[in-house]
Amino acid sequence: MENDTYSLLSGKDAEILEALLERSGELERFRRLVMQYECAMLEVKTKLDVLNAQLSLAHSRNPFETIKCRIKTPGSILEKLNRNGIPLSIANVKENLNDIAGVRVICSFPDDIYMLADCLLAQDDIVLIEKKDYIKNPKPNGYRSLHLILEVPIFLTDEKKMMRVEVQFRTIAMDFWASLEHKIKYKKHVAKPESISEELFYCAELIAQLDGRMQQIRQKIENSAEG
Ligand code: GTP
Ligand code: MG
Repeated sequence: MENDTYSLLSGKDAEILEALLERSGELERFRRLVMQYECAMLEVKTKLDVLNAQLSLAHSRNPFETIKCRIKTPGSILEKLNRNGIPLSIANVKENLNDIAGVRVICSFPDDIYMLADCLLAQDDIVLIEKKDYIKNPKPNGYRSLHLILEVPIFLTDEKKMMRVEVQFRTIAMDFWASLEHKIKYKKHVAKPESISEELFYCAELIAQLDGRMQQIRQKIENSAEG
């Protein structure tokens, strides 16, 4: 989920992927599959936009600040399959990669994350495949976000298909943290990485406290406005 480009099958990695798939005669099927993931991503984005419109009228504020969509690049697809020792094929991509289509929802407050996720999951065409609550159970490095793997139907000319989409919910502050942490993770020559990890972990704790306190202030403001 680290870049927001839609540049499907372009660049050097894409050429490699194309060559591999063409050799096995699967390139056309792969292009169709990617198009289907794009459609599923749009379906989920629209659902969230609709919820945002309705909830912002009801609450006089936006439940989310930003929504970002991305399709996994061919390079990342190849890298993830290789990392897990899975040979490249359409069937293997469909079965093993749940994050070809990714939607990231960035909220101001933690309670909005759960409200949005609950509303989405209550919809009768959405199937929950997996939920990872790294807000209630943060990763050892301090990472916090709510991850859902969903299946959503897309309607093509002659068929209905269930497609997987990964949705990540996090606060603005958690997103700020995750961007920096991601940068450092992929920088090979950072001095004293263990002290940086410690500092990042400490910052993640501070962020969690800050998010909680900001939410309390918002609730106080709402309560005083009602009274
Ligand atoms: P991946 O193989 O990385 O997709 O992980 P996974 O299949 O075990 O799934 P998980 O739900 O743990 O993570 C999915 C995605 O969440 C990752 O691809 C990242 O975008 C994000 N993520 C998970 N853990 C971290 C983390 O520690 N730091 C940052 N910056 N992002 C993370
Ligand atoms: Mg991933």
